[in-house]
Amino acid sequence: MDLGINGKVALITASSAGLGKNIAHALAAEGVNVVLFARSADKLRAIADDIAQAHGVKALAFPGDMLRADDVAALGAKIKADFGGLDILILNTGRAPNPLRATLDETEEERWHTAYRGQLWGAIQVANTMIPLISGRGWGRIVAITSASVKAPMPHHSLSTVFRAGMTAYIKHLANEVGALGITANCVAPALIDTSHRVGAAAYTPEQTQARKKMTPLGRMGTQEEVTGVATFLASQQAGFITGSSILVDGGMVGSLI
Ligand SMILES: NC(=O)c1ccc[n+]([C@@H]2O[C@H](COP(=O)([O-])OP(=O)(O)OC[C@H]3O[C@@H](n4cnc5c(N)ncnc54)[C@H](OP(=O)(O)O)[C@@H]3O)[C@@H](O)[C@H]2O)c1
Repeated sequence: MDLGINGKVALITASSAGLGKNIAHALAAEGVNVVLFARSADKLRAIADDIAQAHGVKALAFPGDMLRADDVAALGAKIKADFGGLDILILNTGRAPNPLRATLDETEEERWHTAYRGQLWGAIQVANTMIPLISGRGWGRIVAITSASVKAPMPHHSLSTVFRAGMTAYIKHLANEVGALGITANCVAPALIDTSHRVGAAAYTPEQTQARKKMTPLGRMGTQEEVTGVATFLASQQAGFITGSSILVDGGMVGSLI
């Protein structure tokens, strides 16, 4: 199926690894020119080179931090100068502070501030700068990566769930305000996705992986492609009448009917 986004321009934040990187690849495979943004400059440049070579699109690596206003402003200026504007904004973020703890043990103010900034404010700061670059074009797509924990909170995830819920609310408000400009805004809410690309303390232990497999009727972890496919669809022409929604990619973990 032709998704009708060939030649569009997408910014994918937090794209030096994992879901962000894979969403950039998936959009580029549809002929979308991509801008990659994360802090690890070398990784970002290598990914941009791979994407340009694999898909024949423009791939710009712009190293920076979503939490730094000056980095985000410089990114906006670069997109305006190089592409004249933006069509697709993928708001991916880093993970909540590690290790995760039970809610009653989340007593440190600093961890709550870190989670707020990392999971919510950074994405809002990027959106504030990028939406003016999308608005004049009569068409646009905003897709935020949140978490299925907004529907069914997972144990030890309150630092994530609280701010993912905030992001979900933000996207709903945004959808109501930008719809008249031809822009949709939606969330992809994953859970139990294979993250074997991660190493060290950030990776799941074999026991954690087993426990996660048991949380879904499918009895397995989801693949990165199963998330990136949904994000890419929400960026497509065909998804034009979906806005303000959260699409679960959770292997059926959330038990509610709707
Ligand atoms: N896997 C799942 O089952 C699952 C479920 C629900 C939600 N999620 C969420 O999906 C998102 C992506 O997950 P993942 O597994 O792909 O994570 P990951 O492998 O840890 O990658 C996180 C990315 O975020 C970037 N990043 C972190 N802080 C940043 C900052 N301040 N500014 C710019 N970039 C920043 C990192 O790059 P640099 O270090 O280079 O900046 C990296 O590219 C996370 O928010 C995660 O919580 C995942």
